Amino acid sequence: MSLRGKGFFKWFCALLLLCLMAVAAALAQKTAAVSPTEQLPAGPMQAKATTACTECHEARIVLQQRLSKAAWTKEVDKMTKWGALVDPADREVLIDYLSTNFGPDKPPYEPPRTARQATASSGSSK
Ligand code: HEC
Repeated sequence: MSLRGKGFFKWFCALLLLCLMAVAAALAQKTAAVSPTEQLPAGPMQAKATTACTECHEARIVLQQRLSKAAWTKEVDKMTKWGALVDPADREVLIDYLSTNFGPDKPPYEPPRTARQATASSGSSK
């Protein structure tokens, strides 16, 4: 391969990589709300909690919490008062689900670091 050919190949690869990164970033943005790391955990209330509790904010706000059962009870009642659609028959199960998964004995929440955030913080766009 000639030098010129190599140069072209390099540029072509760089362009291809940029396109792929743009597509990946777009996809990541689109699927952010349902990316596996940011989903409510599996359990009897996963589907209902996802419907009721990710209407106004991301699941992350729930995943970050480490609350006692009493605190989760207050939280669920507060959110219900604010408009979360929780069937009264589901309230107890939902509180159990939340306090089991996000109780004070759980390890601290690890915020996911996406590639997008990593490139944004390297500051090339400023
Ligand atoms: C009607 C909209 C709405 C719904 C539905 C909703 N929330 Fe919220 N939630 C809010 C708002 C507004 C905040 C405050 C957000 C902020 O501080 O940025 C919040 C904050 C929170 C917080 C952070 C602590 C706090 O009290 O500020 C938790 C935990 C939470 N919500 C859990 C839930 C759960 C669990 C559900 C499902 C039962 C739910 N939310 C449904 C509106 C809602």
